[in-house]
Amino acid sequence: MANPEPGPVLAAVGGRAVPAAARDLLRIVIVGHVDHGKSTLVGRIFHDTGLLPEGKLETIKAVCERRGMPFEWAFLMDALQAERDQGITIDTAQIWFKSAKRDYVIIDAPGHKEFLKNMITGAAASDAAVLVIDVHEGVKEQSRRHGYLLHLLGVRQVAVVCNKMDLVGFDEARFRAVGPEYAQYLASIGVTPTYIIPASARGGDNIAARSSAMPWYQGPTVIEALDRFQPTSAPTEQPLRFPIQDVYKFDDRRILAGRIESGVLRVGDRLMFSPSNQTARVASIEAWNAAVPMEAKAGQSVGITLDDQLFVERGEMASHEDNAPIETDVFCAQLFWLGRDPLKVGARYKCKLATAEFPVTVQSIERVISTTDLSRRDAVEVERNEVAEIVLRARKLVALDEFRSHTRTGRFVLIDKYDAAGGGIISIEGYADQRELVTVRSTNIVKVAHGITGEARAGRNGHKGGVLWFTGLSGAGKSTLAVELERRLFAKGYHVYVLDGDNVRSGLNANLGFSPEDRAENIRRVGEVAALFADAGIIVISSFISPYRSDRDRARRAAKDSFHEIYVKADLDTCERRDPKGLYRRARAGEIREFTGISSPYEAPDAHELEVDTAGADVEVCIERLMDYVRRTIPIAD
Ligand code: ADX
Repeated sequence: MANPEPGPVLAAVGGRAVPAAARDLLRIVIVGHVDHGKSTLVGRIFHDTGLLPEGKLETIKAVCERRGMPFEWAFLMDALQAERDQGITIDTAQIWFKSAKRDYVIIDAPGHKEFLKNMITGAAASDAAVLVIDVHEGVKEQSRRHGYLLHLLGVRQVAVVCNKMDLVGFDEARFRAVGPEYAQYLASIGVTPTYIIPASARGGDNIAARSSAMPWYQGPTVIEALDRFQPTSAPTEQPLRFPIQDVYKFDDRRILAGRIESGVLRVGDRLMFSPSNQTARVASIEAWNAAVPMEAKAGQSVGITLDDQLFVERGEMASHEDNAPIETDVFCAQLFWLGRDPLKVGARYKCKLATAEFPVTVQSIERVISTTDLSRRDAVEVERNEVAEIVLRARKLVALDEFRSHTRTGRFVLIDKYDAAGGGIISIEGYADQRELVTVRSTNIVKVAHGITGEARAGRNGHKGGVLWFTGLSGAGKSTLAVELERRLFAKGYHVYVLDGDNVRSGLNANLGFSPEDRAENIRRVGEVAALFADAGIIVISSFISPYRSDRDRARRAAKDSFHEIYVKADLDTCERRDPKGLYRRARAGEIREFTGISSPYEAPDAHELEVDTAGADVEVCIERLMDYVRRTIPIAD
């Protein structure tokens, strides 16, 4: 959604007109432990910047007096909040104020839930954050979590307000003890606070006016600090990302509407739609009432028409062709979890990413990270309020970005039943962009029908063709078993052939290395070749690490019913102890990069037809199991 203009809102809240000239606007989020004085700070800022509705303060003070309660600034905010809830002002959790320099909007973030909501709506793209901590109480677990959330949200301009200095007698030593401790923590997670300010929100010390009680502090007041922050400009310099929010049909025209998250879109640009992988040119940019523009930028909500009537739905992401998002069905995430039930491996959730919604399954929990001391531990569940590194799997390809390079389209929210239960940022380190694997460039293709049927081939050979797809770590015993199985089957009269990684990589796939993309292409080609072998009536034993589920599933789709996934299982320790080629030793020494199991992932199968455990049984036992399996599933005529 486009930002509401500050004017009317200011007028509603402050009860006065706003200068017509557009002023600089800074979006800030104020976070802090429940009792650390966040509301007081907001109330005080409101008061000190002269924006309280006429008589409001007096009314509340009078109410307090009547009830025999001491006045609290927080009451003021509650009262304003109540008015907002009744729809008297605006229906958003946003509060506006202004300094002499510019306008501000506080994105109200009282709790984690709101943070998550903000992650979805994009409101979390605040320019700056104010973190409130209570010097009297010191840094609390929650303060650390808040810091971590800011880090996850990518907020980089941060002011730490050490509040309640009045309760410690405005003691400099106390401030020096608490402020830097928190700053150090923030720095350790990559958030460097720009200012650390000793303050008393209740007394108004160092909020808008300099405190005479703390002459030892020379830095800026809270308002001065805010005034020194820079509004982060809309990311027009970044690659175009235009998530489609709605498709409207007018007569025979289709208008694709949404908000441009980053980059610039021009009439005539060729757009790529992901994940459907379709392209078309922008025919027009529709304006609701003004002249038809030729370009639109990050931050604008627009509608466009295309020169080609593609079938594009809500949830697709438009980009330029040469700088498209990643397409993948698996991704890693740093996740903040606040679901009522713990997040578990195998559990399903709905993932919201820009305008797309799709189901995901938790494939693995790599580690849980403590927000307190950043220690990491292995875990099978992620509890409420914990941060974890996890791997998520979607059923189909989805379009996404690395958070590192695209803060807007590199984050997501998980929905459990109907609740936002977790939010996170994306990395696909170790995983391939699968776009190339599904891109079809050949055109004008007419398939030739074979003159010999599958039955005729099977009749001649005495058995059907098939793919025995071995997968497992290097050193698990794939090649040993493949070669021995080939020998035994051959002796029994089977037409059989081994395709082995090291062999194929010296010919057909000699141009491929071990990056995730190259491995994916390696397996795509081998999967297609194996399917051809099987179609030709031959049994192919393919022996490749094939570390990615997506690639193995693609090989399965190529060979259809004749595909048999066989997990040659041995744990990493065993493989490393065997180290038949000395590669593990070299990988550990840092001489081989992206080595499976060490510095590159291996996704064990979860729906395989057969498993042979070479760590627990010797070769003969494994071969017997394999022979037995082939005899049963691909019988040979005597
Ligand atoms: S796959 O990952 O693309 O399926 P493939 O089975 O073809 O791998 O090749 C694996 C073989 O390549 C290993 O048995 C090993 O001899 C060699 N190799 C060289 N570099 C690597 C590496 N970085 N990771 C794994 N295997 C490697």
